[in-house]
Amino acid sequence: MSLAGLRVVVSAGPTYEDLDPVRFLGNRSSGKMGFAIAAAAARRGAETVLVAGPVHLPTPEGVARIDVRSAAQMHAVVLDALPADVYVGAAAVADFTPENIATSKIKKIPGEAALVLRLVRTPDILADVARDARRPRVVLGFAAETDDVAAYARGKLDAKRVDMIAANRVGQAGSGFESDDNALSVYWRRDDGTVGERTLGPAPKVALADALLDLVEERLPA
Ligand code: C5P
Repeated sequence: MSLAGLRVVVSAGPTYEDLDPVRFLGNRSSGKMGFAIAAAAARRGAETVLVAGPVHLPTPEGVARIDVRSAAQMHAVVLDALPADVYVGAAAVADFTPENIATSKIKKIPGEAALVLRLVRTPDILADVARDARRPRVVLGFAAETDDVAAYARGKLDAKRVDMIAANRVGQAGSGFESDDNALSVYWRRDDGTVGERTLGPAPKVALADALLDLVEERLPA
């Protein structure tokens, strides 16, 4: 139950992708799960860096918080925070961002019933952390899926070369983005290539954060 002497980087919250000076594309992440994990890591003695998208949450005690807005900013700040012993990618990063940000407010055009936005892919922060030369010893990602949770989570372990995936069981009562409670299915790759699985919750996110860090600590070489 100690992370003393280790450095833990956590990303949390949504990202906002600006369209023009007053509008953005975002998502409904509250940041609560990631903030709870950062708080728990700091309580366990880790030097903890929390890279937070736009959220309305107080900074947990003992945590160094860096606020960002877009996926591109989060990518830059997270990679800059390496090397670390553990990375927890709990942010709900936007997958797409507008190709161009309009410098003035986008106006309705009389007679035009539609507006076409062209979006481009954002960098995959989790995958880039996992393949960085300064790769943390444990890289933990999240997955929010509505169907085939186990299959997608296992696929993500390989595709992103992460050590653990915590899958949110979206749609389950008492779990999800804005709730204080959550339920997680956690998957990890064992040394022999098989996949371990543990179900956590439903429980308050604060309790889940500690249970998740117990699993992370098991993955850290003594
Ligand atoms: O592929 P998918 O978006 O479902 O994977 C979710 C995981 O990947 C989360 O841990 C999320 O923080 C991370 N992610 C990321 N950068 C992105 C998209 C997702 O780090 N551009």
